[in-house]
Formats: sequence, structure tokens, C-alpha cells
Amino acid sequence: MRSITVDLGERSYPILIGSGLLQGIGERCREAGLPQRSPLLVVSDSEVAPRYLSVVEASLRGQGYTVVSHVIPSGEASKSLAVYEEVITTAIQAGLDRSSAVLALGGGVVGDLAGYVAATYMRGIGFVQIPTTILAHDSSVGGKVAVNHPLAKNMIGAFYQPSMVLYDLDTLRTLPPREVSSGLAEVVKHGLILDKEFAYWCREHASELLALDAEALGYALERGCAIKARVVGTDERENGLRAILNLGHTIGHAIEAVGGYGVFLHGEAIAIGMAGSALLAAKLGRDREIYEDTVSMLSALSLPVRLPAEYSEDALMEAMMHDKKFKEGKMTFIVPDSIGAVSIINDIQQSDVREVIAQLKKEGSPW
Ligand SMILES: NC(=O)c1ccc[n+]([C@@H]2O[C@H](COP(=O)([O-])OP(=O)(O)OC[C@H]3O[C@@H](n4cnc5c(N)ncnc54)[C@H](O)[C@@H]3O)[C@@H](O)[C@H]2O)c1
Ligand SMILES: [Zn+2]
Repeated sequence: MRSITVDLGERSYPILIGSGLLQGIGERCREAGLPQRSPLLVVSDSEVAPRYLSVVEASLRGQGYTVVSHVIPSGEASKSLAVYEEVITTAIQAGLDRSSAVLALGGGVVGDLAGYVAATYMRGIGFVQIPTTILAHDSSVGGKVAVNHPLAKNMIGAFYQPSMVLYDLDTLRTLPPREVSSGLAEVVKHGLILDKEFAYWCREHASELLALDAEALGYALERGCAIKARVVGTDERENGLRAILNLGHTIGHAIEAVGGYGVFLHGEAIAIGMAGSALLAAKLGRDREIYEDTVSMLSALSLPVRLPAEYSEDALMEAMMHDKKFKEGKMTFIVPDSIGAVSIINDIQQSDVREVIAQLKKEGSPW
């Protein structure tokens, strides 16, 4: 088993990565000091629950816990205030108290929603993350929890750290292939922002990662989580450094908003966004090789790096204006300086971004 600590003083917590962890969750909760007299709430979704919920429930009950589960429909639409209220209702009806905990068994949608329930129920109770997607190596670490407002994603939320992250690699075997690639986009992103060797390692081991080879995947998720943990440990509330985690996300979020959520998966959209950031870097005088290498890494992981022609520059620019990273006519972008190093640049010209979008739509070489 691999273990990483997110270092946040008194609120530090472990990330455990390995096989067969679901079966031992009850014991881990006991070791972590969750009292058996207080009921536990497991939140999961309609894809994950039929596969893994009964194992988790049995493990918890085996250690003497009272367990109640709430299964939400799979998909981003469940990250809503309406579903949030339903989960809170379950928590009240089950008699959760101040010593209870919410366990999030699922991908980023379940983690974000269940985390917001944990953060707000009785002003905050225990919270355990049990991620079941590759993307959730990112979302389950760092304590950002939220639900969506119809007008904006993640608009209602909190910083609320879990007390542990239990990452059972066996659950990843049932992920659809597109979800595998999408999650790997955030993995390679962690290399692109802070760890050159790891970024190239991902390209070299792409076929093993896509095949979910246990050794390669375990290593990649450990590195990805460790990089995220380091950034969060330095800047928990995104006053500075944490913004580098947004590499590719300004363009990526615009693609998701314009295309409609679900056309491109999140990781696919940010892969195109990361290719765009590398083009922007070239415009600012950085080496073109950054773009070539970024694209070869993403392509090796079966991720898109081109924007379909039907995405208009106007619509994407408009979507970016609504993004919170837009201030006084200038845009903030995370721009690579080289593979494994980025800068936060606050005065990116809109015209440069527009040109990058046009380049992303070009067939063949963008130059
Ligand atoms: N909090 C953060 O810091 C942070 C960071 C990145 C993303 N996010 C959020 O994460 C969400 C995306 O997360 P995601 O990609 O994990 O999406 P998701 O939770 O919707 O999971 C993707 C799909 O895979 C299914 N699934 C999950 N685990 C499975 C398994 N083991 N086997 C088979 N199917 C499985 C789900 O039901 C869903 O259909 C977004 O809402 C995004 O905003 C949050
Ligand atoms: Zn992301």
C-alpha cells in the first residue's frame, strides 16, 4: 500500500492507495476514532453503488457501526442544491449527530456533494473520501467541496478537508475507457505543472496506464496525489500557488460550457485547454517544443488536443468572460515555462487567446 500525507498542521490527513482497501474500511474508521454509537452516512451514485456499496456497508457493520446509505443518480446534474437537500434529509432521518461522518463512495460528483453535506450538516461533521475514479485522485484531495448553481458550476461550496482518503485501485477496473483517459488528463497535468520527469514518465507508460496496470497506475496516482498534496499544503485557500492546478482549465471550462456538459468529459476538455496553454506559451516566446511535447503526452493517453470546428471563437470568449479568472479586460492564465514548470500570468491579451482558439481548430500543425 502507498501512503501520502496532506500536511495541514492539526488538520493533516493520510491518503492511502492500494488494492482491497474497501474491505478494510470499517477497521480504518475505528482506528481513526469514529465512535460506533454515531451513525455513518455513505453517499454513492447509481453506477458505483451496485458494484461497491455492499462491501463498504458490510465492512462498517462488521465493526459495529450503524450505517445508512444514500444513492444519487450518476452524473453532474446530481451536484445540485435539490439533491443536497435530499441527502441532508436522509442524514436527519437517520439521526446523524456531531460525532457522525459522511463517507463519499464515488467519483468527483459524489465527493464534492457529500463533502458539502459533511461541511454543513450541524456546521460540520466527519468526512471520509473513498474515490472510485481516476479523476477523483484530484478532486478527493485538497478539501474543495461544492454543489452547482444553475447559473454557475461549483458556486456554492466550502473548503472542508476529509479526515482520510481511501483509494482502492480495484474499483478503477470497472471505469469506462473514456473516463480512464479523462482522469489521466489530470494526472499528467500534475506532471506538467511541477514534475518534468513524471510528465515524460506518463508518456512512456501510457499504454500501461490505459490498461490499468496496477503497478503503473499505483505509481501515477501516488505521484499525482503527492503533487496535489504539496500544492494544497502550501496554499490551502488558493491565495497564490494553488492556482497553478488550473492549468488548461480556463479554456477547458469554456469548452464544457459552450459544448454542453457531457459532450467532452472534464479531462478531455482540459486536455484541449492544456494544448491551448502551450500555444499561448509559444506566443509569449516560450519554446515551441513545449507544445509538441504536451500534445504527444496527451495523445498517448488517447486525449483530444484539437477543438472541433463548430466551437466558435465568440462563444468561447464569451464563456471565458464569465469565468472568475477574468479581470479588467485582461485574462489570467497558467502558462507553461517548460515541461514541469508554469507561471501565473495576469495580463494575457484577449486577442492572443482568440488566436490560440483559432489555432486549436486548425488541421495539422498549428503554426
Ligand atoms: N473538488 C475538487 O477539487 C475537484 C477537482 C476536479 C474535479 N472536481 C469535480 O469532480 C467532478 C468530476 O469527477 P469525475 O470525473 O470523477 O465524475 P463522476 O463522479 O461523475 O464519475 C464519472 C462517471 O463514472 C461513474 N463511475 C464512478 N466510479 C466508477 C467505477 N469505479 N466504475 C464504473 N463507473 C464509475 C460515475 O457514475 C459517472 O458516471 C466534477 O463535478 C468536477 O467539478 C472537483
Ligand atoms: Zn480539473
